[in-house]
Amino acid sequence: MRMRKKKNGAARMELCRELLVEAPENNKGNWNAYFQNDHSLHLEIGCGKGGFITTLAAMNPAINYVAIERYHDALLLALEKAMEQKLPNLRFIRVDGAKLEESFAKGEINRIYLNFSDPWPKARHAKRRLTSPGFLALYRALLHENGKIVFKTDNQPLFHYSLETFRETDWRLEHITFDLHNSPLNENNIMTEYEKTFSEKGFPIHQLEAYPV
Ligand SMILES: C[S@@+](CC[C@H](N)C(=O)[O-])C[C@H]1O[C@@H](n2cnc3c(N)ncnc32)[C@H](O)[C@@H]1O
Repeated sequence: MRMRKKKNGAARMELCRELLVEAPENNKGNWNAYFQNDHSLHLEIGCGKGGFITTLAAMNPAINYVAIERYHDALLLALEKAMEQKLPNLRFIRVDGAKLEESFAKGEINRIYLNFSDPWPKARHAKRRLTSPGFLALYRALLHENGKIVFKTDNQPLFHYSLETFRETDWRLEHITFDLHNSPLNENNIMTEYEKTFSEKGFPIHQLEAYPV
């Protein structure tokens, strides 16, 4: 996500500190103890400005949410948005999705949302796509056996690539749509910032759900 460097970034981040888990590795295998409940744990990887996860967490107080973003300035905007509500069930971590296993134990995650993940169009960067086989293996190890991934994007090549990688690595796919906003699945849809921008430009939104088998 390209954005201008934020003014007073460090000071502003400090004001949001209570929502940022600075040493998430300390919670590995213990996120329920951290949240002080036995609720399910849902993640968004690459939360950007955080509109999606903040709305979702406000709607579902009985689910714990951890939003992951590796880019400081996007994370800052997400944190500032979340500070308006200070939801007890939503926390943020600044890590690279590739290092998820440092912060989460096997089977600890019940759901992963991937929203408008960077497409990395060049073949030589394919491994960086959040739906590349390497990432899917990582998610499989950390997802609960009844867990799932929900992936949406406006990027058609990335969506087709992802359909293939999920299928080739033995995930069961359900609720596939190439036009989310004109499908019955849209009833429960929460728009992300990217989704608003690209759907307003006329791009159809694609979505799938993937279950480990
Ligand atoms: C295209 S933006 C989409 C943001 C948001 N999900 C939305 O739909 O509005 C992708 C975001 O994912 C983050 N991201 C990309 N790869 C990541 C990774 N490996 N780990 C954590 N965040 C990542 C980027 O920094 C960026 O903020």
